[in-house]
Amino acid sequence: MSSRKFFVGGNFKMNGTIKSIKAIVENLNQSNLDQNVEVVVAPPSLYLLLVRDHLKPQIEVAAQNVYDQPDGAFTGEISAHQLSDSNITWTILGHSERRTLLGESDAVVSSKTKYSINQGLGVIWCCGETLEQRESNQTVAVVTGQLAALKEALGTDAAAWSKIVVAYEPIWAIGTGKVATTEQAQDVHAAIRGWLKENVSPAVAEATRILYGGSVNDKNCKDLAKQADIDGFLVGGASLKPAFVDIVNCHL
Ligand code: 13P
Repeated sequence: MSSRKFFVGGNFKMNGTIKSIKAIVENLNQSNLDQNVEVVVAPPSLYLLLVRDHLKPQIEVAAQNVYDQPDGAFTGEISAHQLSDSNITWTILGHSERRTLLGESDAVVSSKTKYSINQGLGVIWCCGETLEQRESNQTVAVVTGQLAALKEALGTDAAAWSKIVVAYEPIWAIGTGKVATTEQAQDVHAAIRGWLKENVSPAVAEATRILYGGSVNDKNCKDLAKQADIDGFLVGGASLKPAFVDIVNCHL
């Protein structure tokens, strides 16, 4: 096993109610989670404080988005400072649902990532290709292009990269029940690590966690977790279910 600490994130997306989210928190609090796994859950912003107030401290809490400006006249946005003030220590950025549905460009995602890191947040930074791009053999070019935009913002600073967890989420596998094969996922993860080694540094490549996301469940997680370059998961639908605990505990 590598020295990278396995990481499992739960992205609730725009799901849940006070009642259902309290039940998820209760279930996590009562579960024995593998101590060797870093667990972070990302509820909708309305419920961030509810979750942080009730969830055991072993589990950290992430926003699903953040703005890249200091507090001020930005109606509808939440600042990195406000997240830190609320003990929300992570944010997801660059999720494909925001890139495609809301038109967030590589430049916007990079700017938000840089700003969040400078404010002390950890960033679960997402990348991934469409089905069309995969079928035309562009997967690695798409993902490394997204990484190149991030590098333009961060440079090769190891301290900045240490705040990043990369989540490879092929868009065709998100919410479709169509998980990437272990080989498909491992190949892209290895390509991402190779790109980091060439373009950032060997040390950053070795240290950076690369998560797989896209229809991960309690059945398919064990084989994926055995791949050399898969250091965890970003889980959508299954993070709303008790089976999330089995994904966290996939090595036990
Ligand atoms: P699903 O696990 O529901 O496919 O979602 C994956 C995802 O987008 C996590 O960010």
